[in-house]
Amino acid sequence: MPVAVVVGTQWGDEGKAKVIDLLAAEHDYVVRYQGGHNAGHTVVVGDQRYALQLVPSGVLYEHVTPVIGNGVVVDLPTLFKEIDELEGRGVSCSRLRVSSLAQLIFPWHQSMDAALENLRGDTKIGTTLKGIGPAYADKTLRVGIRAGEVRNAESFARRIRERAIEANQQLVAVGGEVVDVDAVVDRFAALGRRLLPHLCDTVNLLHDALDTGKRVLLEGAQATFLDVDHGTYPYVTSSNPTAGGASTGSGLGPRLIDRVIGIAKAYTTRVGAGPFPTELMGELGDAIVDIGHEYGTVTGRRRRPGWLDLVMLRHAVRLNSLSEIALTKLDVLDTFDTVKVCTAYRVGGRLLSGYPDDVTTLGEATPEYEEIPGWKTELRKCRNYDQLPEGARRVVELVEQHIGVPVTIIGVGPERDDCVVR
Ligand code: IMP
Repeated sequence: MPVAVVVGTQWGDEGKAKVIDLLAAEHDYVVRYQGGHNAGHTVVVGDQRYALQLVPSGVLYEHVTPVIGNGVVVDLPTLFKEIDELEGRGVSCSRLRVSSLAQLIFPWHQSMDAALENLRGDTKIGTTLKGIGPAYADKTLRVGIRAGEVRNAESFARRIRERAIEANQQLVAVGGEVVDVDAVVDRFAALGRRLLPHLCDTVNLLHDALDTGKRVLLEGAQATFLDVDHGTYPYVTSSNPTAGGASTGSGLGPRLIDRVIGIAKAYTTRVGAGPFPTELMGELGDAIVDIGHEYGTVTGRRRRPGWLDLVMLRHAVRLNSLSEIALTKLDVLDTFDTVKVCTAYRVGGRLLSGYPDDVTTLGEATPEYEEIPGWKTELRKCRNYDQLPEGARRVVELVEQHIGVPVTIIGVGPERDDCVVR
C-alpha cells in the first residue's frame, strides 16, 4: 500500500523529523497535513543541521516532492524565509507544492493569539504565539483566506483589506495590537505573487501520483496529546495531528493508508501548560533537558521533562491505529542509574483502566513505574537490536508488551544513520 503516516504519540518534539527523513528515502511525496509554523522539525545530515517549520522534511531529498496540504495554516513570510535559507544552502525548493485550499495566516492572527493569551492571565495555554489558533478559528468560522485566492490579485487584496479592518475592531475589543492595514495589503500582495508558482491542486496531484504507483508519506506536526479533540484540552493546539487528521488534511481517504508510524521519545517532554503525570522536577529532569537538548526549536522555551508514559502510548495506539512505533532518543538515557517507565495510573488509590477523558483526573493521576537498571554505555554505535545492552532492550520490550505494537525503529543518536531498524 502506498500511503504511510507519521504521527507524534506524546506532546510533540518526539523526533518526528528524523524518522520522516529516514522514511522519505523510500517515498516520492512528503506531505504536511496540519499545523503551521508552530512546528519545529530538525534534521541532521552530516555536519549540516536543518531546522524546518513549514517546508516538509522530505525537501532534503531531490527525488521527493514536498507538499503543504490543505489542512495546514500557512504563514507566507515564514515560508519564504525558510525557502530562501534552504536555497542559500543549496537545497532547491522549486518542487514545493502548496495546496490552494490551505488557509493563510496573517499578522492579525498573531496579534489575536498574543491578546488572548494575555487575557488568560494565570491560565495561559502557552501557545507559540504564531497565530495558529486564531487562523484555524477563522477557517471554522468560514471567514479565512485560502492560498488559492492569490490567483486573483485584485480580490485577494480586497479580501485582506476587509478582514484586516474587521480583525482590528476585534483586536481593539480584546486590548490587542492592531495591524497597519495598508502595509499588510501591500506586503501580502507581493508574497501572493511569489506563492503562485508553488500553488497547486494538491488533492488531485497526490491521487494522480498514487494512480501511477508513487508512494506518499504524510508528515504530522505536533502530536496526539496536542490534538484539539483528543489531547489535554484546552492545553492543545487547534488542529488534528492524529492519524484521522492526515486524511482530512491531505484529501487521501483512510483506506489508502496502510502504515501509521507513531513516534515516541524514550522519555516524555511537553512545552506550554497542562497536566503531565510523569513530569520530573528535580536534577533528573534537568539532566534529561541538558542531555536531550530539550529546548523548543521555534520558541527556545525549556521543555518540561518526564519519564516515558505507556498509558499515553496505549491510548495513542487506539486513537491513531498505530501499526508500529519508532522509539527515539533512547541514547539520552545512557548515563542514568535507573530508568523508569510508567505502566499505569492510580487516582485516589484506584487503578485507572484507560487514559482519562478529562484534564482534572489526569492532573490527579499518580504513575506506577517499572524500574530498569541503567545500561551506562553509549548506544550510539549500535546498529542492530542484539547490540543493545539489556536495559535498553528491556525498555523496548516493555513498550511492546504494554501497547501491543512492534517497535521497528530505535533512535540511538542525532544523525540520520544513528538508528536501529528492525
Ligand atoms: P499553538 O499551536 O501555538 O496554538 O500552541 C498550543 C500548544 O501546543 C502549546 O502548549 C504549544 O507549546 C504546543 N505546541 C505547538 N506546536 C508544538 C510543537 O511543534 N511541538 C511541541 N509543542 C507544540
